[in-house]
Order: sequence, then structure tokens, then C-alpha cells
Amino acid sequence: MANYKLLAKQVEELTADAPTKIAALANTSALLWENMEDLNWLGFYIADGKDMLQLGPFQGKVACYSIAYGKGVCGTAAATQKIQRIANVHEFAGHIACDSASNSEIVLPLIHKGKLFAVLDIDSPKLARFSAEDEEGLSLVAKALMHSLYS
Ligand code: SME
Repeated sequence: MANYKLLAKQVEELTADAPTKIAALANTSALLWENMEDLNWLGFYIADGKDMLQLGPFQGKVACYSIAYGKGVCGTAAATQKIQRIANVHEFAGHIACDSASNSEIVLPLIHKGKLFAVLDIDSPKLARFSAEDEEGLSLVAKALMHSLYS
């Protein structure tokens, strides 16, 4: 499993001087992609303020541009502001398959002062790729990123 404590620290350092939020998300996606195993897609969908998520920086195959709140795993994370950790995406009603290689997925909402900024979406070809420990570790990473973006 990835060393999430170290990754959180690296994300904070890497993004501290980023000139824009997009640049920070781009480098965060590259860092996580390099340091996590068994992934086929990792990236951000950014809240547009109109209950839609719009494609942001990512690693992997080309993906859908827009996801409405409530649709698929990302839209559910956005609507509920709760982490979605899905062992088998094919059993998730309304799952949006941008990349048919995806079998499991974790989506973390990135929230600032109660408002959704973006979601971090990580997809794997392996069933049940993401454990409770991954969820905990990625929460640290998300927290570090948000701290860096909004301080
Ligand atoms: N699977 C996601 C959509 C985004 S991608 O797969 C890159 C979902 O159901 O929200």
C-alpha cells in the first residue's frame, strides 16, 4: 500500500507554491498516479457552481467532460459530500463507465467551508482495490491538498 502520510506531506510541499489551483491539481494527479498501484484512471472533477462536475487534471484515458450531481459515483460523492468507496462499480446503479477497464473506484469530495470544490476520482481494474486503510490514507492526502489550496 502507498505511504499516504508521506504522500500527504509531498502533496502539501509540491502544491504550496503552485501558481493556480489547476496547476496544483495537475501535479497532484501526477504524484498520486506515480505512487499508487493498479490504477487505470486518477483525476479531478471540479464543481462548476451549477450542480455539475467538470473534467479537471487527470492521468489515464480520455474521460467524460461533465457529470451532474447525483449521477454515477462521482456525482453521488458530490451530492452527498461523502466518500464513495465502491468494490464493484458494475453493481453501482448509474455508474458512468468512462473507461471500461474500471472495476472498483473511490471518490473523495474536496470541501472548503462546507462547499464542494472538486472530487478526486480514482479508478482501478481490480475489484475491491480500495480498502478502509486506503480511504483513511487518501483522506489525509485530500486534507493536505485542500489545506495547501486554501491557505
Ligand atoms: N466512473 C465515474 C465517472 C468518471 S470516470 O470513470 C473517469 C463515475 O461513475 O462517476
